[in-house]
Amino acid sequence: MNVVTKATEAESAAGLNYLSGFGNEFATEAIAGALPVGQNSPQRPPFGLYAEQFSATAFTVPRKEARRTWFYRIRPSALHGPYRRIAQGVFAGPLAEPNPNRLRWNPLPIPDAPTDFLDGLHSMCMNAPATSPQGISVHVYVANRSMERVFFDADGELLLVPQLGRLRLFTECGRLDVDPGEIAVIPRGMRFRVALRDSAARGYVCENHGAALRLPDLGPIGANGLANPRDFLAPVAWYEDRDEPTVLVQKYQGTLWETTLDHSPFDVVAWHGNAAPYKYDLSRFNTINTVSFDHPDPSIFCVLTSPTPVAGVANLDFVIFPPRWMVAENTFRPPWFHRNVMSECMGLVYGAYDAKAEGFVPGGMSLHPCMSAHGPDAATTERAMEAELKPMKIENTLAFMFEASMVLRPTEFALQTDALQHDYDSCWNGLRKFFKGSPA
Ligand SMILES: [Fe+2]
Repeated sequence: MNVVTKATEAESAAGLNYLSGFGNEFATEAIAGALPVGQNSPQRPPFGLYAEQFSATAFTVPRKEARRTWFYRIRPSALHGPYRRIAQGVFAGPLAEPNPNRLRWNPLPIPDAPTDFLDGLHSMCMNAPATSPQGISVHVYVANRSMERVFFDADGELLLVPQLGRLRLFTECGRLDVDPGEIAVIPRGMRFRVALRDSAARGYVCENHGAALRLPDLGPIGANGLANPRDFLAPVAWYEDRDEPTVLVQKYQGTLWETTLDHSPFDVVAWHGNAAPYKYDLSRFNTINTVSFDHPDPSIFCVLTSPTPVAGVANLDFVIFPPRWMVAENTFRPPWFHRNVMSECMGLVYGAYDAKAEGFVPGGMSLHPCMSAHGPDAATTERAMEAELKPMKIENTLAFMFEASMVLRPTEFALQTDALQHDYDSCWNGLRKFFKGSPA
């Protein structure tokens, strides 16, 4: 085996290096001089590398939408044999029939059998057929060993939300360490593998079939706030020159396919462009909320958004509910009762969510589809109505929501798993009638 990497023991101990910024045109090389200067595709790139363009958007989209990267790699990606169809378990469906019920799940258990990230992907809900250029699919992963094979998703970019266990992502652009409390986004089509840095891992994956995620506009908020661009981190170039069989799996139109390379696909010595994986520490989110009364819609907590052609209507909003001060006067402070045309899929990384007294636990998930009525449970409601409204800080909590404009449907697995809570509706059972027919 011939292994050459830029990673030293000292570098591993010190942590990885990153490039700062959102959507920047990065340029990075693992060997000085590997990146061609002044052109993308020289007749003979430096060091005997091949030039290859990775296009994550159509060539001719407006410049502000364009995402592409030039790789300078040891072998072109085209060097592979035919893909063959493989079994896919509960990844990518099948869907159950449309279901208007509010649904909630306990965390999926960590398996006993050897399970890598790909084996452990369980699809929970989706809102588009595999052939659609819009929509999202929501998965939960559970794993107890690192991937040895490599994966890419031709159906969408992947937003990873680890809940348990630290990960190291190996990608064509380099390596990312992603811990619970952080997120990572891998572009559609980018090859990667997930290594575990702890004995077990669990988390959430939102597969975005629509327009690539980007920072939301800030409107009257101004030039700063919410997630700030400089806190997004892309990997520096890193490569391995490894000539041994490597299984490469792709998801294509909702099905899984596999081929075997005779080398590592992580052989990009240098790259430049803006189609790159990135990570973000959610504790960097600049939370904005009321300092008078009521509270704004949860869009104020939007970290990343995937727009649709209709202004203001998101294919996907990724929204978080982080630690924050609550100071609203004369206000029912938990998330209010509501019905929403958007479908809401929520998860919890750690702590407790302020709308539920119990039942929504770290690693669990809830789905409140289009126009389903929901809000705080009975215990939380009565406590909030009686609370003395002093400034208080909600601490040690990190909940999030994948909010989608197209209606999310559960998969058959999601309705059949033992993790489904069949008594979820009962959390609202104790909502009492206070009406007296005259002012209170
Ligand atoms: Fe909601």
